Amino acid sequence: MTATTAPPAARDRWEHRVQTSAHPVAYRLLRAIAARGPVVRVPRVGVVVSDAALAREVLCDTAHFTKTGPGSPADLWTPVLGPSVLLNMEGADHAALRRRLSGLFTPGYVAALCARVLAQPLAELPRRLAAGAEVDLVHVAQTCAGAAICEIVGLPPEPGRFGGAHAEAAEVTRTVRLWRHGMTGRQVARAREVLGRLTASAVTAYRRGGEETLPGRLRGLGLTEEEARGAVGAFLLTGTETLVSFIPRLVALCHDADLLDRLADGTADLDTVVEEALRITVPSPVMLRSVARSAEIGGVPVAPGDRVVVATLLCAQAYGPFAPERPHPPELRRLWFGAGPHFCLGMPLAMAQIRAVLTAALAAGPIAVTGRRAARRVLIPGYARLTIKLRSES
Ligand code: HEM
Repeated sequence: MTATTAPPAARDRWEHRVQTSAHPVAYRLLRAIAARGPVVRVPRVGVVVSDAALAREVLCDTAHFTKTGPGSPADLWTPVLGPSVLLNMEGADHAALRRRLSGLFTPGYVAALCARVLAQPLAELPRRLAAGAEVDLVHVAQTCAGAAICEIVGLPPEPGRFGGAHAEAAEVTRTVRLWRHGMTGRQVARAREVLGRLTASAVTAYRRGGEETLPGRLRGLGLTEEEARGAVGAFLLTGTETLVSFIPRLVALCHDADLLDRLADGTADLDTVVEEALRITVPSPVMLRSVARSAEIGGVPVAPGDRVVVATLLCAQAYGPFAPERPHPPELRRLWFGAGPHFCLGMPLAMAQIRAVLTAALAAGPIAVTGRRAARRVLIPGYARLTIKLRSES
């Protein structure tokens, strides 16, 4: 299926604004490229793939496409995080580390983590709504992310820490640009300094061991101290801004499609709506690979050293506007979490956090979006502010 440059449907208009505010040039350019075909070679950018079935083939074919060659995520993250942090590994080493981590985000652990970590920020939400306050969901999502970060790095979840923890993790992702192949020396130094500070407590918790902290659990799963520090860094990079971006956009989409009341009374299925909102928003909008061996993608020849830009956002948008009642075809299924050996490790945690925030927002009574502003020039598109309020039914 090929993406089009057609104007967005009315209920997706705000999503279009969110995308163009974040990437005024790159988003329009990507859409224009995708309109030329499912696989297009673009000078200085790479080979852009915007078809879901072909994207899945690339992501699953690690013999030809790798995350470690030129132009791949390794270029970006190895100088900051070191060589062994999942995101920049391939082959037997990657498989072995994934195997050891497979027992980390189990349903029981994820449920307990959400209950513990989100208890304070989410108790506030229905209380403030019920008191008639206008609540900024971006701020709520950032506070929840800060609370999750404290847990991930092994710090006690004290509310006074949440804002600062989120701001530091966000600073690292902010230095990355969509088209840039790497970071400057100064950016690497700054990112290392910030991540070093955030992960220092993870090392302390790792050395202490035990099941009470995430770094302690990583030690129990057999990770070395270096691997545990890398895994914690990877979680902070991949699992923070994606959720801060997605949660307000989910609520905005549901508001625009008149779904909030139906979610609250159970006539709309929450999991189906969340999955469809992920298809429309795709919080991780592109995935990068480097060509390891000559191959073809949809008939387009690629050679070692070529950079492949899997435009997940465009792959997903090709299936039309927000429509939760329409099932996703097999080639598209959860592509927003990747495919193949690098499929998102944190998906169970992400889904549990999303469900928890949405449920808390709906718990106070009928809500509506009362104001919003799209964030400008950010890596992961999102709202800078999205306020909700309890509707008066009179
Ligand atoms: C809505 C939220 C999220 C989205 C959309 C998302 C999306 C993705 C995608 C697309 C990939 C694959 C990248 C590639 O193949 O190049 C990925 C990998 C990964 N994600 Fe997530 N993610 C989310 C939340 C999280 C959370 C909460 C965590 C953990 C705390 C997490 C941890 C990871 C890790 C560790 C990887 C690397 C896996 C590997 O390379 O083996 N993610 N994610």
